[in-house]
Order: sequence, then C-alpha cells, then structure tokens
Amino acid sequence: MAGLALVTGASSGIGFQIAKQLAGRGYDIVGVGTSDRVAGLGERLPGVQVYPVRVDLSTEDGVADLWRQVEETGRPLDVAALNAGVSLGGAFLDTDLEDEKKMIALNITSQVLLAKHVVRMMTARRSGRILITSSMSALTPTPYESIYGPTRAFMLSFAQGLREEMREYGVTVTALLPGATATEFHSRAGMGNTVFGSNDWKNDPELVARLGVDALFAGKDHVIGGDRKTRLDALRNRMLPDPIKARRFAKASKPR
Ligand SMILES: NC(=O)c1ccc[n+]([C@@H]2O[C@H](COP(=O)([O-])OP(=O)(O)OC[C@H]3O[C@@H](n4cnc5c(N)ncnc54)[C@H](OP(=O)(O)O)[C@@H]3O)[C@@H](O)[C@H]2O)c1
Repeated sequence: MAGLALVTGASSGIGFQIAKQLAGRGYDIVGVGTSDRVAGLGERLPGVQVYPVRVDLSTEDGVADLWRQVEETGRPLDVAALNAGVSLGGAFLDTDLEDEKKMIALNITSQVLLAKHVVRMMTARRSGRILITSSMSALTPTPYESIYGPTRAFMLSFAQGLREEMREYGVTVTALLPGATATEFHSRAGMGNTVFGSNDWKNDPELVARLGVDALFAGKDHVIGGDRKTRLDALRNRMLPDPIKARRFAKASKPR
C-alpha cells in the first residue's frame, strides 16, 4: 500500500508543490487549507488518493478536527509536512494585535499541537519523516514583519531540538528555510507596497518544495529553499551582526 503524507497549507504555494512532490513519489495526501480550493486538490494531484481537509488551523478546534480526519483514514502517517503559515506586514505600531495573535496561533501553536499528535503516532511505529517549513526569516531580525520572523525562528529551533529527541525512534525532522518565494504569501500579508510586493524576483515554489522534499528523504536537519543567491544570502545571514541585518531587511519590508 502507498504511504500517507499530511501536508498543511496544501491548497497553494509551497505547500501545494510539496504535496505534488510527495504525490510524485507515490504518497497519498491528506491536504489541508482554509479555502474552497482544498476541495479541488484531488484533480490537481492525479494518480494518488487525496483526502481534502478544510479547516482553520489557527484554532485549537481546527487542529482537533484535522487530527480526527487523519485518524478516520484508518492509516498511519509516513510523512508530515507542517507548512501552513502566514505573515503580517507593516509597522508594529500600527498592526492589529488580533491579527498578530491569529498569526502566532497558526504559525506556532497549531504546529506544536499538530506535532504532538504526529510524533506520538510516528514514534509508536518507530518510523516517519517530518518536514517543518520555517524561513530564512528565522536567521535575521524582521522589522516591518516583526512578529512573523520570530514565529519562523521558533519553528527552526523547535525542529532542531525535536530532531535530536526523535533520533532514537527512527523518526527524522527536517526544517525547510525558504527564501522569498513567488506565492500568494506577501500579498496575503498586505505587503504589496514593499519590495516583497513583486513576485518577479523571487524563488520558484516548485524549486523550494523540491529542495525541501529531497532534504526530507535524505534525512537532513535543514535545507535552504532557493537558488544560489538565496543560499549566499543565508550564509551572509549567519555571519552579519543583527543590527546590520535588521537595517537591510527593513529596506525591503518597510511600506513605501
Ligand atoms: N512565500 C515566501 O516568500 C516564504 C518564505 C519563507 C517561508 N515561507 C513559509 O512557507 C509556508 C507556506 O507559505 P506560502 O508561501 O506557500 O504561502 P501561500 O501561498 O499563502 O500558502 C499558504 C497556505 O497555508 C494555508 N493556510 C493559511 N492560513 C491557514 C489557516 N488558518 N489554516 C489552515 N491553512 C491555512 C493556505 O490555505 P488557503 O489558501 O486554502 O487558505 C495555503 O494553502 C509558510 O509557513 C511561510 O511562513 C514562505
């Protein structure tokens, strides 16, 4: 029987491409999103069984509902890609606190809740692979996306610690750190009036997902998701002092 993979945020962008890569490797997909595009996932991923799940993961009920539907498949998860996430652009002085709380609930809390279910299921079978989408933003201060970056830093740190705990159970954890990628992400974050507003210069989500899925199956601890320039930027981010990185980031993220 084919393996089963959970992909959150599978209805668009990087998550859809991750689902496509996994389907290409023969995995059936539990694909998650909030929009009605989720219902059409089966047609967009031909040749494998798709279980579409439309839930809002920024609520604990949404996570519980998703997990109930995973259990209802009657199948164990071989792969879990915890990928759904959003950003919120603008000056912290002006951004809406409720939007920020919702972002934290999706980008951090839901990932932890879901990871708890996933690791319990996978460790019981002593097998499984977990891919956690973080971001290059985890490696730099992110002014004008001042809460988003820390949510990605949380996920990177969480992934690295969890990876070590999972080693004795034969479960791998891999962090994917995409650079800026041409998806709906920045327009959804209200960043149309920044350098991030244009998708022309960004990484192809297909490339980012392929790098992530290849790293997942190679059992790597993390991978930078993007082209050569993105990988060089990541290297620079590991060396430059934070105040300099913050100033550079603000040039791209500050609303014009
Ligand atoms: N694009 C970038 O430049 C970039 C860079 C670094 C890291 N990332 C990370 O990559 C991940 C995917 O982003 P993307 O670029 O692919 O963005 P995207 O195109 O906007 O896709 C986001 C996905 O998450 C789903 N989603 C959003 N809110 C949700 C919620 N409350 N509950 C369940 N699902 C929800 C969306 O589903 P619906 O559309 O159906 O609502 C969609 O499938 C995020 O974690 C992000 O932090 C992105």
